[in-house]
Amino acid sequence: MDSFIIHGGNRLKGKIEISGSKNSALPILAACLMAEGKTVLKGVPRLSDLDSMAKLIGELGCDVFRHESGATLGDGPALNGNLDLQVTDESMCEARYDIVKTMRASICVLGPLLAKRGRAIVSIPGGCAIGDRPVDLHVRGLQKLGAEFRTENGNIIGEVRGRLKGCRMYLGGAQGPTVLGTINVMCAAALAEGQTVLVGAACEPEVVDCADLLNKMGAKITGHGTPEIRIEGVDKLIGCEHRIIPDRIECGTFMIAAAITNGELELKHCNLDHLIAVVDRMDEVGIKTSRENGTIHCSSARRLNAVEMTTQPYPGFPTDLQAQLMALLCLADGMSVITERIFPDRFLHVGELNRMGARIRKEGATAVVQGVKELQGASVMASDLRASAALVLAGLVAKGTTRIDRVYHIDRGYEKIEQKLRAVGADIERVKER
Ligand code: EPZ
Repeated sequence: MDSFIIHGGNRLKGKIEISGSKNSALPILAACLMAEGKTVLKGVPRLSDLDSMAKLIGELGCDVFRHESGATLGDGPALNGNLDLQVTDESMCEARYDIVKTMRASICVLGPLLAKRGRAIVSIPGGCAIGDRPVDLHVRGLQKLGAEFRTENGNIIGEVRGRLKGCRMYLGGAQGPTVLGTINVMCAAALAEGQTVLVGAACEPEVVDCADLLNKMGAKITGHGTPEIRIEGVDKLIGCEHRIIPDRIECGTFMIAAAITNGELELKHCNLDHLIAVVDRMDEVGIKTSRENGTIHCSSARRLNAVEMTTQPYPGFPTDLQAQLMALLCLADGMSVITERIFPDRFLHVGELNRMGARIRKEGATAVVQGVKELQGASVMASDLRASAALVLAGLVAKGTTRIDRVYHIDRGYEKIEQKLRAVGADIERVKER
């Protein structure tokens, strides 16, 4: 396993290329199981989660080939080649536990398999570091389309007699809309008979991106990006060409990296509209962001203001940037209050940040962050993807050396993060764990 060694104190300055969105590419790869002919995906980031999804759909009869592009942009990471996907065998229907246990987004194959093949066996994704990850809303939505389910030996087994049938349904849960649940049911409805209306649908840009792909394949989806999505079922979907949207969470993470080091970054290929609530909070902290055709300039004032923030479904502040903002607020003047409404247990980063001299007190789903003058470098442990990113951000500004073990968590969601950070002045290197 690899570790990062970071010597803190360098101000970041320069350009970073934002990669394609992990959370858009994952369900889109699963959706390709429903297409006839070849689909070409552009801007798919090289991440371990995407490797896992490519392996999973490969076992389900979809060939995945990545072209080597070789081109690079300046001293940035090599540009990723296109991904060609084509279903050549529809006989398999089982998503195995050893893939699902490492990546719960595997659940995204459930809707496409039921819609296209009439049968699906998907291992029940367990919980993970950020808390319990139920899939009851996925199952309930697919049941309303006519799928029948049973659980057996830790697997969800779904079957469709004949063809799925569209209906009007409410899809929200106790914590609000479900992103992957919306995508799963939307995919299935694309090939169902008649009209489906999803009320209480998730509005995230990743839902919109998947709907755009499906419409290019011949689906008839409208209202995506709003809480009410309408799908007119069609008989088949044909492969297409599609570019994955930029990763708004990676972009937000680097915006905070600029702020925490009191630096100045130009973030290329971003969509600031996908981060409107993040820009709002960061503006209050004292971070200046401006945009110029897809490039975001981000810099911070010397003084960081303490703020209150509550994570919400889109367009609210995303839970996937909660840990990163907390790292920044460790150095703000005064007391900040962060409330986690989506995953109330998503605070594994608190203990590690406190080891670096932060003063954070967790009270249930709320963390109170008392700003300190400086953080000290320390040996810390990565636990989940975004908590690990928060530790990298803290290491960039901490006094002395920070060692982060188990960085495979970071490799799940950040493409070449140490190269991108080194290219703008960070003193960070990847080493083999002791
Ligand atoms: C997606 O997960 C993202 N993952 C998560 O990003 C992100 O944190 C989350 O959406 C919220 O924005 C991918 O897109 C691959 P949800 P998802 O269903 O869809 C509850 C990252 O770091 N719920 O929107 O699985 C659930 O417990 C990852 O990149 C049910 O109760 O999340 C949570 O409280 C982490 N029943 C809330 O809904 C269900 O059937 C929102 O979860 C499904 C969800």
